[in-house]
Amino acid sequence: MSRTMFTTAVHAGRPETGTPSIPSVPSIDLAVSYRASDAATLHAMLAGEEPGAAYSRYGSPTLEAFEQAMIVLEGAGTARACASGMAAVQLALLLTGIKAGDTLLAAQDCYGATFAVIDTVFRHLGIQPIFVDATDLAVVQDALVTFRPRALLVEPMSNPLLRLCDIAATADLAHTHDAQLIVDATFTTPYLLRPFEQGADIVIHSVSKYIGGHDDVLGGIVLARVERAEDLRNLIILTGGLLGPQAAYLAMRGLRTLPLRMREHCRNAASVAAWLEQQPGIARVFYPGLPSHPQHKLATRALSNGYGGMVAFELSQASETAVLRFLDALQLCLPVTTLGGIASQILYPACSSHRTLPPERRRELGIGDGLLRLSVGIEDPADIQSDLETALTVIR
Ligand SMILES: Cc1ncc(COP(=O)(O)O)c(C=O)c1O
Repeated sequence: MSRTMFTTAVHAGRPETGTPSIPSVPSIDLAVSYRASDAATLHAMLAGEEPGAAYSRYGSPTLEAFEQAMIVLEGAGTARACASGMAAVQLALLLTGIKAGDTLLAAQDCYGATFAVIDTVFRHLGIQPIFVDATDLAVVQDALVTFRPRALLVEPMSNPLLRLCDIAATADLAHTHDAQLIVDATFTTPYLLRPFEQGADIVIHSVSKYIGGHDDVLGGIVLARVERAEDLRNLIILTGGLLGPQAAYLAMRGLRTLPLRMREHCRNAASVAAWLEQQPGIARVFYPGLPSHPQHKLATRALSNGYGGMVAFELSQASETAVLRFLDALQLCLPVTTLGGIASQILYPACSSHRTLPPERRRELGIGDGLLRLSVGIEDPADIQSDLETALTVIR
């Protein structure tokens, strides 16, 4: 019998062995080094020929439990958990085998630090970055033909405007032109989208967001098909940016309730987005679940179980002063620079994630001075709406 994600999330990665009894949750295993029954077994473990931990940079039981659970939820063949989402971005890029002289295509509205690491660190290493509008398949195809990149990095749902990239069609295009497709699925999680089923080669998440879900763990993960297991293992052993055992435990603890939380995030976001659209002080609402979203049809086709927990909206009073007064009037929604936690979290892109961009470039990207990004939490949606309504009244 195939199990739903709700059941899988609760049980995947649960320990199956132990002496003398089997723990029901993974232990937080702090050991850096391990002994084996004999020296030959230890050496076989180090070489990856025998299962088991030998040195914790090679992997450890707590980490492996989390990685195993993510492998099952994503339908991947292998995974390595990293110290942060950015460590995962870097590891995924290295896993493509990219080298000096290669071209790397990436979505122009990918996460700011991803854009920056490609545009600085990878550029300085001799890799040519090309940023494209990944929501436009014709643009992607042109770039693949013209630049013959080794890899293409996209996000299924962009930040902060929630524009969608058609992963299945993009994977087809990438493979036709011999490029590997990396999907940063932080916003969608396996609850909304399983990128391997749509043709992705490598999937990454910032575990710090929905997967951890409680704002208490910074982490990332890279997942790939089974053929890449040895390459991924060798890379994390050499680069060393793996997740620590306490963080892996918290990530696993968060993952257990991911589908439950996502169901509520999606329901609440749909309700808050529809409500916001009716409010006099709101100029525009961006939410893939709204019929007014330009890619609503694609969202309905490509996403399962809902339209996500992220909503963006523009205040009619689009001055920085009005936005700051609005933010200060909120009592429930937390003004923080993160997303995907159980509490509603609000961010002002013009003054935070996109503050280093010149105002004209921000406007070109559609990020106006009145735009706010709301990560809708799992509180009662009536309370979230009431909080937003009070703040709207203050600036009216
Ligand atoms: C889409 C996306 N990818 C990657 C990252 C980086 O993750 P971390 O902050 O865990 O390094 C973030 C952070 O917000 C993100 O939103």
